[in-house]
Formats: sequence, structure tokens, C-alpha cells
Amino acid sequence: MEIYEFGQRIIREAGDFIKLRMKEDFKVDAKLNPHDLVTDVDKETETYIYERILERYPDHRIIGEEGHGTDIEDMSGVLWIVDPIDGTLNFVHQLQNFAVSIGVYVDGEPYCGLILDVMGGVLYHARVGSGAFKDDIRLDEMRDTTLDRSLIGMNANWVIKDQIGPAFKKIVEQTRSTRSYGSAALEMAYVATGILSASVFFRLHPWDYSAGMIIIDEAGGRTTNLLGEEIDILKKDSILTGNKAIHKELTDYFTSDAAFIAGHRRVHGEKR
Ligand code: IPD
Ligand code: CA
Ligand code: CA
Ligand code: CA
Repeated sequence: MEIYEFGQRIIREAGDFIKLRMKEDFKVDAKLNPHDLVTDVDKETETYIYERILERYPDHRIIGEEGHGTDIEDMSGVLWIVDPIDGTLNFVHQLQNFAVSIGVYVDGEPYCGLILDVMGGVLYHARVGSGAFKDDIRLDEMRDTTLDRSLIGMNANWVIKDQIGPAFKKIVEQTRSTRSYGSAALEMAYVATGILSASVFFRLHPWDYSAGMIIIDEAGGRTTNLLGEEIDILKKDSILTGNKAIHKELTDYFTSDAAFIAGHRRVHGEKR
């Protein structure tokens, strides 16, 4: 079986695992701060996916948010990048609106992306060169839009930050409206389907964005960091993803704001 079909199978199995497991009690812990939560279900689901992959492909490598693959520093071979539950806060508070997200890279090249809306039962997926799909329906090529006629995915938290906040505030003022779904992966799937025209994130990890980037690329969109720089898939970075026209409009916008650039450099370092 090909990796792509295998990935679709295990992500759905992982979704079934979560749906069963969440009927029982689970422990919720804080990680770095009281707003950064992790549950037993996150950890168990990551282990479940990790074991399924290695059972079938013992030589593949896996990076997961909850601790697998922390020693991986290069992209050689087949690399699976796994977020077992993207949207843990939604999982804890709502028991819905969360996803499993898996991006697969072969020798550093994107291969396929998979995002499962667990409670919605919808799988967004793409293999490079074969188009992007919502279940078995092929997604249309993303249509160009302008900021003033778009819905933009954005977390309100960034508006209140000192150096970078004013840039995000201007987006709120200029766009038709913003939305925040609490799962970066789902938000990227919504960009791919055109429900959102673009989405902006100031800090995401590879497991948050790797699958979404591949799906959006296959749907005809573009993803870079907020300054228009290419993403290094093993690093955390800001993310700007959307149709090509709005992507250009927004990178022009962020790169014309000196305070924003300085704030971005302070957090993410110098241009690569
Ligand atoms: C988080 C979600 C959230 C985004 C955070 C991520 P997690 O992932 O994607 O929408 O704003 O930056 O860390 O921790 O729920 O997997
Ligand atoms: Ca987390
Ligand atoms: Ca995540
Ligand atoms: Ca997670």
C-alpha cells in the first residue's frame, strides 16, 4: 500500500481512537503556562500513530508534538510530522473543533498532507501533484481575493502584543472580518477550501502547519512566513497562507511595517 493511502487509513483510525477514548475520563495538564494544555488523549494518540507507522515502515522517522522525534534534525528519508490533537483547548472545553494533522516529507520534499476534522468526520488531504481533496471531492483552484473583501483567519491574542500588535490591528480594520477557529490545521483546511481567503499566525510549529501547507499548495495557494520568506519545515515560524493575490497583498503589508519586522526578527531571528 502506498504511503498516502496508508496515511489516510491511520489518520481515520486515530480519529476513531480519540472518539472512543474521550468517552472515558482523561487527565488534563498544563505545559508551559496555564493556557497551554495537554491531555492523556493527546499523548496516547501520538503513541498510537507512532506505533502504527513504525509497524508498517520500520525505517520511517516521526516527529510529534508530544515528544516523539525530538532528536530529529534533518529531513532525510521519509519523515512524518504529527500533531495528534490540533486544538487541544477546543478538545478540553468543547470536545469538538479539533483535528489530527499529519504531513509527510520524502528527502526534504513535501509528499502528502492529511488533516482530519475528527468530530466533523471530514478528511482534507493532498498528495503533491495529485490535487487537494475534501474526502473524495477534489477542491477547486483557490480564487484570488483582496483583503477588503475577505474573511481572514486570525487569533485576537496577537492584536494586544506591543511591537507586532498594531500590524494585526490594521488587518482587523481593513478586512471584511476575522475568524479564529482554535485549530491551526483546521483553519488551514478552511483556507484550502476557500471558506477563509487567508490565515495569519505569529508562531506555529511544524506539526501545526506541515500538512496544511501541502494541501494549500495543491489547491493553488501560497504559504510563507509573514515576511514572505520560505518556511524551513523543521522550525517554528510565523505563517501566512492564502490565495496568491491576498498572500502578496499581506506580505507587502507586513514588510512595509518596520516595527512589525523588528518584532518578528526579535522572536524568529534574522532572515535565513
Ligand atoms: C495550537 C492550535 C491553535 C494555535 C496554537 C497551536 P495545539 O495547537 O493550533 O489554533 O493558535 O498556536 O499551538 O497545541 O492545540 O496542538
Ligand atoms: Ca499543544
Ligand atoms: Ca497544534
Ligand atoms: Ca497538539
